[in-house]
Amino acid sequence: MKKYLFFLLGLIAFAGCKKDDVGTKKFSFEKPVHFPEPTYTFDKNPVTKEGFELGKKLFADPILSVDNSVACNNCHVKSVAFTDPQHSLSLGVEERSGIRNAPSIANMAFMKEFFWDGGGIHLDFVPPNAIENPLEMDEKLAHVVYKLNHHSSYPALFKKAFSGIETITAPYMLYALSQYQVMLVSASSKYDKYKTGDEMLGADELEGLEVFEQKCAACHSGELFTNQDYRNNGLDTEFDDPGRARITESDADLGKFKVPSLRNVALTAPYMHDGRFKTLEEVLEHYSAGVKQSATLAPELQQNGTLGIPLSATEKQRLIDFLKTLTDYDFIQDQRF
Ligand code: HEC
Ligand code: HEC
Repeated sequence: MKKYLFFLLGLIAFAGCKKDDVGTKKFSFEKPVHFPEPTYTFDKNPVTKEGFELGKKLFADPILSVDNSVACNNCHVKSVAFTDPQHSLSLGVEERSGIRNAPSIANMAFMKEFFWDGGGIHLDFVPPNAIENPLEMDEKLAHVVYKLNHHSSYPALFKKAFSGIETITAPYMLYALSQYQVMLVSASSKYDKYKTGDEMLGADELEGLEVFEQKCAACHSGELFTNQDYRNNGLDTEFDDPGRARITESDADLGKFKVPSLRNVALTAPYMHDGRFKTLEEVLEHYSAGVKQSATLAPELQQNGTLGIPLSATEKQRLIDFLKTLTDYDFIQDQRF
């Protein structure tokens, strides 16, 4: 009996410990050592636990949509690195189909521009796009603010997060959403542990990394796996979606889209701006045999007079082995998020 009691006490102590581990995880922004400097303006909007928690609540609350049916996390689902696993084109209120695939919102604190065409230039201004887009949440920012001010718990939560404010205004709501989003840092994949010297990659994975550096890193470069530039990677000859040209209104940008980060890419299917590919195998098949010629096609994809990137079957397999090391299980299981 006594033995049993000790065991039980031990268990309780152990459970307590585990809980504390989560409790001590930071609620302030920390740049991973091997990452570039963040672009987010933390001086204007420093992260606090209260602001982060408020942003997290807003992110998951359909109150931001016109008929209280769609929340940010309908389309940005945590378990798949904040993408939408179900829809090639995102699905908004009243099942309205959008025009693009929902990208991962990991590591937004480090991005210079937002959306597939770079139409967003500051993270704080991204949510109004989703909220007021008729194909997404179809609500008016002012009306969201009205609903929040008349809500049973939000006024007190905003007061706690932003000391002294009397009424909720749009900028504070956007600050809270940003505080949550900038904390979504994905930097503890197997690849990261390799970079920081804490874990080795297997022989196949290392081979894949080498192929990647030779054949993919011109665009998917650096620790974010994107040069944050716009490229036409040969998906089409004609462009239903003008891509970057929607913003610049220049024909030279037709069919160019933001080079996406490949972090967590094994989780973030379907792929490309319109979610046309279901698997990484299909993506590699595109690069090796499916690249289409057009006036704006990236020069990297038409070298020595051949279209695409030559890849042998083994190289494809190794590339996939490597891409899988970018999956960050700590990130998708992080209790804070
Ligand atoms: C109906 C689905 C949907 C909802 C709801 C939605 N998003 Fe998105 N989100 C998308 C799509 C699709 C894109 C890409 C749009 C584009 O490139 O034109 C996107 C892009 C983004 C980006 C830019 C990512 C990048 O890599 O550039 C961020 C950040 C973001 N959303 C945050 C939010 C927040 C915050 C909310 C809630 C206020 C939200 N989203 C609601 C579908 C959605
Ligand atoms: C010339 C620049 C360039 C090169 C080289 C390149 N990519 Fe891309 N990649 C892009 C662009 C741009 C997109 C987005 C295109 C779109 O959606 O219209 C993309 C999209 C992807 C996606 C889809 C990601 C997502 O979230 O939807 C994957 C996976 C990918 N590339 C892997 C690779 C691999 C592996 C290689 C090397 C074999 C490679 N890329 C070489 C520019 C490039």
